[in-house]
Amino acid sequence: MEIFNEIKPIRAFLTAQKKLGRTIGLVPTMGALHDGHIELIRSSRQENDLTVCSIYVNPTQFNNATDLEKYPRTLAADSALLQEAGCDVVFAPANSEMYASPSQLHFDMGHLDKILEGEFRPGHFSGVALVVSKLFNIAAPTRAYFGQKDFQQYKVITRLVEELMFDIELRSVPIVRETSGLAMSSRNQRLTAEEREHATVFYRSLLLAKDLLKKGESIIPVREKVKQLCESVPAVRLEYFEWVDTVNLKPAENVSSQTILLIAGYVGEVRLIDNLILE
Ligand code: PAF
Repeated sequence: MEIFNEIKPIRAFLTAQKKLGRTIGLVPTMGALHDGHIELIRSSRQENDLTVCSIYVNPTQFNNATDLEKYPRTLAADSALLQEAGCDVVFAPANSEMYASPSQLHFDMGHLDKILEGEFRPGHFSGVALVVSKLFNIAAPTRAYFGQKDFQQYKVITRLVEELMFDIELRSVPIVRETSGLAMSSRNQRLTAEEREHATVFYRSLLLAKDLLKKGESIIPVREKVKQLCESVPAVRLEYFEWVDTVNLKPAENVSSQTILLIAGYVGEVRLIDNLILE
């Protein structure tokens, strides 16, 4: 496995690989890797000759300085996991490499980045769009892989690729869950054993809501029941629970395979998100 920290050498390496006709799959991550990320690597390996994983905790997508500071950084363990998973190339740049000068560029995606995560994390998606654009320009991959857990992020990146005409195929890979139902997330590393147990309430809420909506209950009482369930668990604070259309992220009107339930909240000091597409 090749490891690069600088843009010039990884660009030269990947350009040479492309000249040999090799396809490249990019898995952008912020490290603290778990089985969800490894699933992205697996998906990329199935479709591409070469898989590149970027590990970079991007400061411009954090709207909370403590969250950025506390974000887990486990590069040595991540490299070992990637090696075992058969990843070919790791790109782990420093801030000085990715932001040689302070960025002046901001993205506004209208409705897409104002709702859900965008409402509670202003500026977050602008930072994501910025760093993903940089990574796409550096690696120029054939395909790029993202987790369905960050569903809204995937919609934002899809829009980015369409508007900026990146010649890249995007893939959304289903959520990987622990046996308890908890969606895998790098942030889970910050939970105590007790909090991990409490955090399962988000998936339980999604399942409850799915069941009630499918039985014909309307969204207002369902939202109230989700709120009550979350409030019944110590240290849990619900931020939002919404049901929207998977295509345009506008409030859903009925239950269909185009409807997604999304939830976000805190367990102690750790903010978690989860979602469920209604099949
Ligand atoms: O999903 C993430 O881990 C990050 O938002 C991403 C896409 C790597 C950009 O920093």
